[in-house]
Amino acid sequence: MVEILEEIMKRRSGRAFDNTAVPQEMIDSIVEAGRWAPSCMNTQAWNFVVLTDPEALSIAHEALSRGNAYAKEAPVMIVVAAKEDGGCSAHELPYFMMDVGLATQNMLIQAVHLGLMGHPTAGWNEESLKETLGIPVEYRIVTVVFFGFRKDLDALDEEARERETKPRTRKPLDEILHTNKW
Ligand SMILES: Cc1cc2nc3c(=O)[nH]c(=O)nc-3n(C[C@H](O)[C@H](O)[C@H](O)COP(=O)(O)O)c2cc1C
Repeated sequence: MVEILEEIMKRRSGRAFDNTAVPQEMIDSIVEAGRWAPSCMNTQAWNFVVLTDPEALSIAHEALSRGNAYAKEAPVMIVVAAKEDGGCSAHELPYFMMDVGLATQNMLIQAVHLGLMGHPTAGWNEESLKETLGIPVEYRIVTVVFFGFRKDLDALDEEARERETKPRTRKPLDEILHTNKW
């Protein structure tokens, strides 16, 4: 049995997408994983716009920042949008962001489970993407997540292969963990 921690640690924001189509059942299960995320007072602030049509994808790609050009190879793009007042109002915090974040992470982990790669991004022009996709003005695009199978590592040049396999890093535990007291 695959441990969930193993799948959490296996997830990485790779860039080498294979443009092979992703089966619809896989896409559905990724969205389902997002939909079952927890949210403050069950407000479920998230909305998902799923793009798989090559023409729709190609128009949406125009909104991507130059640094995210790699994402044009990904066969699935999920735009996650929410209203700024769509979450709960506790502590005057923008909880819609947490709802969306939890849904996004659920989707990323489900993708790993299916043998796919998911890459969340913030590098795109929000206004033009909203216009292209007909997203109502009162919604904000919080993230755009790209999904697809990873390209065979043997098909990559050395630089790309190194980038795709480089160990991921995190702050050491003693910098972020406080036990019983800060
Ligand atoms: C909100 C958010 C926005 C991000 N935006 C981008 C982006 O625009 N382009 C990109 O290549 N990676 C983006 N990333 C991916 C991060 O760079 C990546 O998660 C981080 O470096 C840790 O690497 P890992 O996901 O492989 O563990 C984003 C991640 C998050 C959570």
